[in-house]
Amino acid sequence: MTNLTTRFFGINIQSPVIAASCGLTGSVKNIRKMAGNGAGAVVLKSIFEEEIRHELDKELESRPPGDIHSDEYFDYFDYILKEKNLKKYMELIREAKKAVDIPVIASINCITSAEWISFAHKLEKSGADALELNLFVIPSDISQPDGSSERFYFDIIEKVKRHVSVPVTLKVSSYFSNLAKMLVDLSETGVQGITLFNRFYMPDIDIEKEEVIASPALSKSTDYLSPLRWTALLYHKMACPLAATTGIHTSQTLIKFLLAGASAVQVSSVLYKEGIETIQRFNEDLRVWMKNKGYSSIDDFKGKVAVDAHTSARAFERVQFMKHFGEY
Ligand SMILES: Cc1cc2nc3c(=O)[nH]c(=O)nc-3n(C[C@H](O)[C@H](O)[C@H](O)COP(=O)(O)O)c2cc1C
Repeated sequence: MTNLTTRFFGINIQSPVIAASCGLTGSVKNIRKMAGNGAGAVVLKSIFEEEIRHELDKELESRPPGDIHSDEYFDYFDYILKEKNLKKYMELIREAKKAVDIPVIASINCITSAEWISFAHKLEKSGADALELNLFVIPSDISQPDGSSERFYFDIIEKVKRHVSVPVTLKVSSYFSNLAKMLVDLSETGVQGITLFNRFYMPDIDIEKEEVIASPALSKSTDYLSPLRWTALLYHKMACPLAATTGIHTSQTLIKFLLAGASAVQVSSVLYKEGIETIQRFNEDLRVWMKNKGYSSIDDFKGKVAVDAHTSARAFERVQFMKHFGEY
C-alpha cells in the first residue's frame, strides 16, 4: 500500500499537496472540491491588513468634504471595517470546518504587528486547525537600522505564539541578507513549519503609458528552482518541517521537492490554470512513481537529494558558470 501521509502544520495530513492561500480558497464550494480531490489541507485566503486599509480609504474618499471631523471618526470606521472583515473570515473558517474533514488553516497577512495578534486568537476560536503567518516586509527603507526587518519577524512570531495554542507556521520570502541563517533561526522559534517562498505582487512598467502596472498574477512552471535550491540546502539544518510554494505546476516538480526535503507543497497557480482536479492527478502520479521506485511512504525518500554532511553542496550552491551555460 502506498501511503502519502506527511506532516506539516504540526498535523498529519493525508497528502503532501496543499491548496495554497488564494482567491480559490476563499469559497467553501472550492474548499469542498479540494478536499474531494485529495488535498492534504487547505490554507484559506489571507485576511489582509492592507485590504482593510484600502476599504477604509475608499470609505473616507466617498464621504463629502468636511464630513471627516476627527480622529475618532477615522478610528470608528477603521474599527467597523476590521470587525466586518474579521466576522466574514471567522464565518469562512466555521463553514469550511463544517464542510470538510481535512485541516483548515487560517492565514494572516501581517504588515504591522500589534492589532493582528488579537485576530489570531479569534481565528483559533473559530476552529482553524493552525495559523499560517504570511510575513513580508520589503526591506527598502534605508533609514532603518540593520536587522530591523528581521526583528519584525521574531517579534510577531513570539506575540502570536503567546496568544494561540494551535500550531503556527510561516510563509516567507527570500528577501533576507543572510537567508540560510535567518530561516534556521526562524525554524527554532517553535513554529511548526516554514513555507519557501511566497510569491508576491510584483510591479512591472507599461512603456507606452509610462506607468507602473501589475505583473502576471500566476507563476510560471520554472519558478520553482529557487525554492528547490533552498529546500535542498536547508532540509538537514532546519528545526521544523519545510514546505515549498511557487511554480509547482507538475507532479514531477512535486516529487523533486519531496526528494529535496520538503514535507509538502502548496499550490495555487496550477489550480487556476488546470483546475482543482490537478490535486488528484498529482496524488495519483506520486503514487505511481513511489510504486515504481519501491517506496511505501514519503519518509522512504524525503530529503534523499538534500544536502547533508555526505553530499556536496556545490551543485546546489553553484551560481555562476556551469558546463551547460558554456554550451551557449
Ligand atoms: C490569485 C492569487 C491570490 C493569492 N492570495 C494569497 C493570499 O491571500 N495569501 C497568501 O499567503 N498567498 C496568496 N497567494 C500566493 C499563493 O498562496 C502561493 O504561495 C503562490 O501563488 C505561489 O504558488 P503558485 O506558484 O502555485 O501560485 C496568492 C496567489 C494567487 C495566484
